[in-house]
Amino acid sequence: MKTLGLQLRFLIPLILILAGAAYLAVPVMDRLTLRWFARDLDMRGVLVANALSESVAEAASDTRGRKLQALFSRAVLDERLVAIGLCSPTGELLRRTDHFPKDMTCVQAEDLANSKGTNLHIEGGPVHVSVHPVASEAGPVGELVLMHDLSFIERRSQDTRRYLVILITGLGAVIALVTLIVAQLSWRGWIAGTRALLHGEGLLRPNSPVFPELAPLAADLRERLREVEDEYKRLQGADADWTPHRLQTLLRTQMRGDQVIVVSNREPYMHERGAGGIEIRRPASGLVTAVEPVMRACSGTWIAHGSGSADREVVDRHDHVALPPGHDEYLLRRIWLTPEQEQGYYYGFANEGLWPLCHVAHVRPVFRESDWEHYKRVNRLFADAVVAEARSEDPVILVQDYHFALVPAMVRERLPRATILSFWHIPWPNPESFGICPWRAEILEGMLGSTIMGFHTQFHCKNFMETVDRYLEARIEHEHSTITFHGDPTFVEAYPISIEWPLPEQARTWPSVGQCRSELMERLDIPRDHRIAVGVDRFDYTKGILERLHAVERMLEKYPEWQKRFTFVQVAAPSRGALEEYRLFQQRIAAQVDRINDRFGRPGAPVIRLLAQHHEHDEVTKLYRAADVCLVTSLHDGMNLVCKEFIAARDDERGVLILSRFAGAARELTEALIVNPYHVEETADALFHALTMPPGEQRERMASLRSTVHEFNVYRWAGRMLSDAARLRLRQRVSTRVQRHAGSGTIVPLSRKSTRS
Ligand code: F6P
Repeated sequence: MKTLGLQLRFLIPLILILAGAAYLAVPVMDRLTLRWFARDLDMRGVLVANALSESVAEAASDTRGRKLQALFSRAVLDERLVAIGLCSPTGELLRRTDHFPKDMTCVQAEDLANSKGTNLHIEGGPVHVSVHPVASEAGPVGELVLMHDLSFIERRSQDTRRYLVILITGLGAVIALVTLIVAQLSWRGWIAGTRALLHGEGLLRPNSPVFPELAPLAADLRERLREVEDEYKRLQGADADWTPHRLQTLLRTQMRGDQVIVVSNREPYMHERGAGGIEIRRPASGLVTAVEPVMRACSGTWIAHGSGSADREVVDRHDHVALPPGHDEYLLRRIWLTPEQEQGYYYGFANEGLWPLCHVAHVRPVFRESDWEHYKRVNRLFADAVVAEARSEDPVILVQDYHFALVPAMVRERLPRATILSFWHIPWPNPESFGICPWRAEILEGMLGSTIMGFHTQFHCKNFMETVDRYLEARIEHEHSTITFHGDPTFVEAYPISIEWPLPEQARTWPSVGQCRSELMERLDIPRDHRIAVGVDRFDYTKGILERLHAVERMLEKYPEWQKRFTFVQVAAPSRGALEEYRLFQQRIAAQVDRINDRFGRPGAPVIRLLAQHHEHDEVTKLYRAADVCLVTSLHDGMNLVCKEFIAARDDERGVLILSRFAGAARELTEALIVNPYHVEETADALFHALTMPPGEQRERMASLRSTVHEFNVYRWAGRMLSDAARLRLRQRVSTRVQRHAGSGTIVPLSRKSTRS
């Protein structure tokens, strides 16, 4: 309807113009045709005069005039010729036919003939007058005055006028029709162009909107969105502390309380069948350490693999269980996998394929077609669960880690308006390394279903963008950290993960550092005068446990005075034991520990204590508090949260952190002793340095490390990601609003005025 209205606004003036043109054209046409006919009649007069001339000259000699009269009477039988007169050479009217005006003189007839376009009106209607000389051999006879009927011209003029009006009307109709068609096509093209623009095509790249004619609109829109973003950032107060409360406020205000769904392989709590009934266990997982406090702040639903032996016994009929136990702050939805699925998807593709592929820790990735099939099927299973749990068409979905590279695109298919934040907790290698994966394109395409793709470091983001550039046809805009694939943009950004701070409630009940130390020494039978170093890891070849043992051995070799004053406690939580690579690794470590203990230990007092079992969080905290040194020597690590947990545990501002330069955390925790774990000598010296570091220096370093972890806590990690998500959601909503108005034919003007005035 609106379109028709607009077109009528154009057509009515067009019709009026055509009518005016017709109105003006008709008299002009009349004059023109009259002139043409007058010329025709003059020529006709010449012919008639020539034809009559001889007969007139002869008849003129008849003094009674009968011959002439008879001649003229015959001549005026011609229906066009109304009257004839003959004037003498001296201008006297000698003869005339009946219709020749009685009072007209020869002079008047001459005048009329000479004044072209002026016609005479006699009884029968308008006539055209022409005068023609007649001569005989004897000389001039006189002048023949011919009066031709002009009334037929009137009739023809009416016909011409009718044809002209029909022609102009027809022309007008054709023009109107063509205009309607062109206008319709242009309108549709323009609307399509505007929609494409609002979907982001051409919006992100300033100089090339998809439709050049929409460039001004694109520029306005871009500017408006930037203003909204600036305002948003300003309201955020970039430097303020991130707390659970601030995160909740962000969700309530900017996200309007939208539903948050987390997807991860590892569940935050496992229910295990034990001797005394069902026991609850927190798995050893950096992912769980980071995401759980965020979930407590956000509520929402966490979807994860139910892998505990008693997991099924505690869920409701929807496979839900409220957590944390006794607090019920969020809901866990457990997904059940068959042993074959777990083997193929988790052990096989994720941990024998992607894990070594991304860590580049000199263990060959293994890619099996059957594992890949399981990986795809399990990803689909989790994507279906996300859709089933979604209460709206645009929930906020946090997809965690390399287990679910395909989930973002799978969810995007079913919930196109969802905000999908994916976080890759492990490193991203360079394009060449990643390129060996047989399904590299499928994995990248799956990940690009995300709204935001997060990594721990800028370096990993850069590797990811280069990998996409190498293996997919996608538009990459480095200045905006954006990859647009099949028209959908993904924002790629570094969000360094962390731990909760302020510390949890339990921190108030921590035993003192002295007490922790005494308990540990007693439990492990460590001599009182010993200094203690600790390592806390999953039993994984990427953690650099072997290199750490070599460094301990080298330190004892190099600085023998420590042989009787030093104990190294290594906690190694069993992990992925179904994989041979892991089993062999555990055996290798155990053998090395035995060898070093044989070399430096004394009976009943081994220098290295290997605690190869799962430890609950509280026990690990006590260990951190008891230690003089904490060794984190990963060969490659996305972030590593053990070092941050050690720092958090040291409220006495004592203890030294030795940290691998290949852990993402090394970029933030610069006051640690940074080492290359492959360089045994360097790590051994760092251990010696740590053991001999004066308390003042320890305090200075630890205070600074604590303030870094405090500031860059896990709420900032989640808060930054969710703020970016809120910004992108706002952008999408503004676009939808503008699009709706554009669709209804009203373009909302986008103000150029900055909100920062
Ligand atoms: O580092 C990647 C990661 O998913 C961590 O987030 C977590 O600490 C670890 O792997 C857990 O591994 P899994 O769940 O296989 O025991």
